[in-house]
Formats: sequence, structure tokens, C-alpha cells
Amino acid sequence: MLDRVRQIGEEARDAFAAARDEQALENARVRYLGRKSELNLMSRGLGELAPEERKKIGRATNELKNELAALLEAARERIEKGAAVAALDLTLPGRLPWVGRKHVITRTLERLEEIFRTLGFEIAIGPHIEDDFHNFDALNIPADHPARDMHDTFFIEGGKLLRTHTSPVQIRVMQSRKPPVRIIAPGRVYRNEASDASHSAEFYQMEGLYVDRNVRVGELKGVLTKFLHELYGEDVGVRFRAGFFPFTEPSTEVDVECRVCRGKGCSVCSGTGWVELLGAGMVDPRVFEAVGYDPDVYSGYAFGLGVDRICMMLTGTDDIRLFLENDLRFLDRV
Ligand code: DAH
Repeated sequence: MLDRVRQIGEEARDAFAAARDEQALENARVRYLGRKSELNLMSRGLGELAPEERKKIGRATNELKNELAALLEAARERIEKGAAVAALDLTLPGRLPWVGRKHVITRTLERLEEIFRTLGFEIAIGPHIEDDFHNFDALNIPADHPARDMHDTFFIEGGKLLRTHTSPVQIRVMQSRKPPVRIIAPGRVYRNEASDASHSAEFYQMEGLYVDRNVRVGELKGVLTKFLHELYGEDVGVRFRAGFFPFTEPSTEVDVECRVCRGKGCSVCSGTGWVELLGAGMVDPRVFEAVGYDPDVYSGYAFGLGVDRICMMLTGTDDIRLFLENDLRFLDRV
């Protein structure tokens, strides 16, 4: 009887190893491990054997059952894997690896920087954590000035604050060198305000500053018009409106014809056909005094533009929050 058990073992091992598909394996299972298999019948008949025999045969049949159960499992895995490989269609085109790229705001900044570089400007950067002096006082915005209310400010311990605009970089540059100065200062700014489709607590500006002897309003107009033509095409309408900023006199706000509706009026331009893109003006003499430049010798112009707005116009994006949400479905598309 022990010989027979051994024999069944050999046959079963061969059968499991030879099974090439699920059906063949199932047949082998029924045959060697099923309820009516010879092995099972033997275990069930153990009671009729003499005690010595019963022990020996019982152990042998149990061991074989365990071994075969493990072999069955292994064979099942082998067949499943084989099926998966067979299901591979090697003629299908491969999946392209996903390629990352620069953020759309970064690309917009680079485009703006490129235009101003060709106009002779160099890039300056300043700290995001500022103090009252650079962010306000030196820009002719004293403590009780109403303009401070418009700059909802994030204050930090130690009298510091998060810069509310890139204008403090003007101050830092003028404090550190003598004219002529011709810089742009791109970067992130912060305002403590609720966000919606057109407001964000963090956004980007680019400051511009040119100071030398005899700088006139005409140059400011010329440079900004040239910049907007480079960005949106020579045929875009550009409009200079009178404006007010504490750090410039006279001041202007500059609009371009809405590129989304081409001036007809749409939701992006609130039906006006124009979008305000920047503030600018001739540097106020008090700003020169704050940095130690002689306003009788030097004059200059400054401007500040909203990078997110420009980016929204260039990409047809109608919600500023998308730029900071890191949703790849959006970033991949723009
Ligand atoms: N700093 C202004 C703001 O954040 C923008 C600005 C306006 C900057 C006029 C300038 C300027 O340099 O001349 O609203």
C-alpha cells in the first residue's frame, strides 16, 4: 500500500507539472486530490487497517496530500502568469513616458524677461519678507496713508511683513547703486485677501524701473507700448489712462484691448473690451529722497505689471487659482 501511495505521488507530480491550462490542471486536481481520488479513498479506509499500518499509511497519505496541494497552487500561478503574457499585444504602440515641463507662470515670466532684456533691462530680485520701510514708507506710503488699506498685508512677528508688491525691490536696488539703473524685478507677492476667480493671496508681479538724467514720460510710453506689442502683436490696442500711485507722479494705468474677444466685450474684460495690465508713472521725487538720489539731477519711470493676468490672457484661463492648485490636468493643457 505504501508503494501505491508513492506511485500516486509520482504520477500526480508529473500531471501537475504537465498541465498547460486551467482545464488540464483542474482534471489533475480532481483525479489526485478530489473527493473520489484514490488518495482520498485510502485515507477514508484507514479505519479498517491494523493500528501499525494505519499510522504508516495515514502519515504517508497526509504528507502527499499536503505536498500535492502546494504543487497545485504553484501550477495555478504559473498558468495565470502565462496567460497574462500571452494576452500582451506586442504590436501595440508603446505608452509615451509622461514628460514634465516648466510651470505656465514660469514660462510667462521667462517670456516677459526676454522682451525686457532686449530693451536693455537687467533682472533684480528682492526678499519676500520685507519691512515697513521698503514696502511702504520709502515708496511714499506713510503709516496713515489710505493706500495701506488697499494692500491687505500679512504681518509677521518682529515688525516684518510679506511684501504686498514688487515695488520694494526698486528701493533696494536704488539704495545699493547709483544711476543709471534699468531693472525689472519679477516675483511672488502676497495679499491677505479672500480668493476667488480673479483674486489670490499669492500672485506674481513684475516691477520695472529706469532712472537716469533726463528720463521723460515719452520713453515710458514708448517702452510699455513696445513691450505690449511684442507680447500681443503690433495690432493690439493700448490705452493709457490717468491713475494714482503714491510713488509715481504723474501716474497711469495701462489697458490692452481684450485678446479673448478682440475688444468686443466678454466675461474676461467685463464687457468693456479692455483689460488693465499695469500701473506706471514717473518716479515721485520723495522716493528718490528716501533712497538718497538727488531729484533735481535724476528722473525716472517705474511700472508694475500683473503676471497672472497676462498669463490668463495668453492662455485663455479664467480662474487665477488654477495656477497654484497643481492640478496636472490643467498644467498639462496650458
Ligand atoms: N505696486 C503697484 C501695485 O502693486 C503696481 C505699480 C504701479 C508699480 C505703478 C509701479 C508703478 O512701479 O509705477 O499695485
